[in-house]
Amino acid sequence: MAAIIASVPVCVSAKASVEVRRNATRAAIPARVNKAVQLSAKASMAGARVQTTAVRATVARAAVVSVSAGYAAPQSKYADELLETVTNMTMPGKGILAMDESNPTCGGRLEALGIENIEENRRRYRDVLLSTPDLGTHCGGAILFDETLYQSASDGRTFVQVLKDHGMYPGIKVDTGLRALANSNGEQWCQGLDQLAERCAAYYEAGARFCKWRTVVSIPAGPTEMAVKEAANGLARYGAIAQANGLVPIIEPEILLDGTHTIEQNFEVASWVWAETFKAMMDQGVMLDRIMLKPSMVAPGADCETKSNADQVAELTLKMLNSRVPPCVPGIMFLSGGLSELDSTLYLNAMNQAPNPWHVSFSYARALQNTVLKTWAGKDENKEAAQKILTRRAIENGQAQMGKFDVTKSETEGASMYVKGYVY
Ligand code: 13P
Repeated sequence: MAAIIASVPVCVSAKASVEVRRNATRAAIPARVNKAVQLSAKASMAGARVQTTAVRATVARAAVVSVSAGYAAPQSKYADELLETVTNMTMPGKGILAMDESNPTCGGRLEALGIENIEENRRRYRDVLLSTPDLGTHCGGAILFDETLYQSASDGRTFVQVLKDHGMYPGIKVDTGLRALANSNGEQWCQGLDQLAERCAAYYEAGARFCKWRTVVSIPAGPTEMAVKEAANGLARYGAIAQANGLVPIIEPEILLDGTHTIEQNFEVASWVWAETFKAMMDQGVMLDRIMLKPSMVAPGADCETKSNADQVAELTLKMLNSRVPPCVPGIMFLSGGLSELDSTLYLNAMNQAPNPWHVSFSYARALQNTVLKTWAGKDENKEAAQKILTRRAIENGQAQMGKFDVTKSETEGASMYVKGYVY
């Protein structure tokens, strides 16, 4: 596994200017920030996170001026707004509702329940999700598919307005899907860089303030160095373009659950993929304090004979992240990747039993939606019951974000949602 960087010490894109900027940043940190740092050490975990967020925002503002020395210098007229968006989205107890399934994927899930895959039914289903009362209490944003960004709720408000009324940020999937990676070991790459700047600008105009790009890495396929580097470079280029156009990028190299690999093998591959991804992001001037990550949890493959418990998954996932992710990254918003609804919450809860340098939370699709969709089943009379389930799942994951989920009080199902070769 070539080119592993041992750690990423600071979030700047100009290697030679690291010390200069560190000193400048130190000098620019006012006394009240130092006080906040001292206070946060004494505060409760949730309180500490609020302090951390405030400190991070102040440090980031002080550090935005950059000098380039071989690496791209970050530039965006939206720098302040990006910081504000990401800060608000990473408040204690908050995660993200991912509902950006493409039309074929969403349609496939509807059809499995006997609901016809037509635009109106997709809209009705998205209306169930987005018009859930108090959705904004534990979801800082929702990731939408292109079609949904321009649709309206049954009460006539645009979905963008519904989200704003919840105090949530609209997000948008901007990749255009996976394709076969030629000359690889049956691997895939993620498309969508063509006209990405124009599309991001149009999405910003339509109200989106953050976005996601999901590429995948397959452990059984190797993975090959070509596939890992392709994934990293695509994510970095996308991240730079998104930030230049006012959208906080979610960086998502999903390491697929498919396979018989052990948790340790997953750890190795995840460490490699994130090292390459951070190197590529720094090369391309991505502002690391204005992104969110969407990693897979480090877990054994779906067909591995040795299962792991929540503590083991949490330990290896945090070990991997601590060795790769600089503390200036504001949010780590996990995907659920086919884990069961219950496991995804238990694992997140286990990761939040001690303070982390970053906000560690959820950006689940399947683990938030699965039972909701089954309960709704296309019938208006089931809408309220379905929404109650989404509320429960959002509360439980919000509690897990703060390390306070109590499994003995949960009615959440434990069945796995793993689907071999799942496409998004
Ligand atoms: P899952 O939680 O279903 O893995 O969602 C992944 C994703 O990328 C949704 O935006």
